Amino acid sequence: PTPESWRRIDSYLTHTLVEPDEALAAAVADQNAAGLPAIEVAPLSAKLLQLLIRISGAANVLEIGTLGGYSAIAMARALPPGGRLLSIEAEQGNAEVARRNIERAGVDDRVEVRVGRAAEVLPDVDGPFDLVFIDADKESNTLYLEHAARVARVGAVVVVDNVVRSGRVADPATEDEQIAGVRRGLEKLARDPRFDATALQTLDAKGWDGLAIAVRVDPETR
Ligand code: DHB
Ligand code: MG
Repeated sequence: PTPESWRRIDSYLTHTLVEPDEALAAAVADQNAAGLPAIEVAPLSAKLLQLLIRISGAANVLEIGTLGGYSAIAMARALPPGGRLLSIEAEQGNAEVARRNIERAGVDDRVEVRVGRAAEVLPDVDGPFDLVFIDADKESNTLYLEHAARVARVGAVVVVDNVVRSGRVADPATEDEQIAGVRRGLEKLARDPRFDATALQTLDAKGWDGLAIAVRVDPETR
């Protein structure tokens, strides 16, 4: 497929399957106006996160990497009554944009944005979480997966964004440290007996990328 064709299909599927959400549209607009990078998940991927929450019955969600709050708002909308989402963001300015977006979306009662580098914040985070979404600096994916394994209950869903990176994940010539981090993360998902994982490639408005989806398993009974 050419970029024109996959963008057309992404647009068609999005318009057909994803109900418009004014607060999400406003969150993207404000994030862009504030100069944050336009690297939030595509609408169909946000919908996948919502469905994973609903399919798994997740009530407690951990997000690593808030950016402007787009995926946090989407996931918060899928939580059951009493559900909670904790999102960790390294950049104070991003967190301020995200908090305004989250408040406007009316989900600030169930979403907490904690500011700090996830490597420093996560040691103080305790579960159990039912779903963990890892979408921060790719160099640290193995560290984030280690924390995910610690705080996720058995049966929890773990999702890692950006695992394909325009195909560079499987390009042996790539020396990019982010790509190396993505690979180490995938290898950990494969090797670590506490995870069972797959990955989906995505072709959407954000280009060619992918999501890894894992379940936290009990190594004794897998
Ligand atoms: C990029 C995209 C992402 O979704 C992300 O989490 C980080 C970076 C990018 O396209 O550069
Ligand atoms: Mg991402």
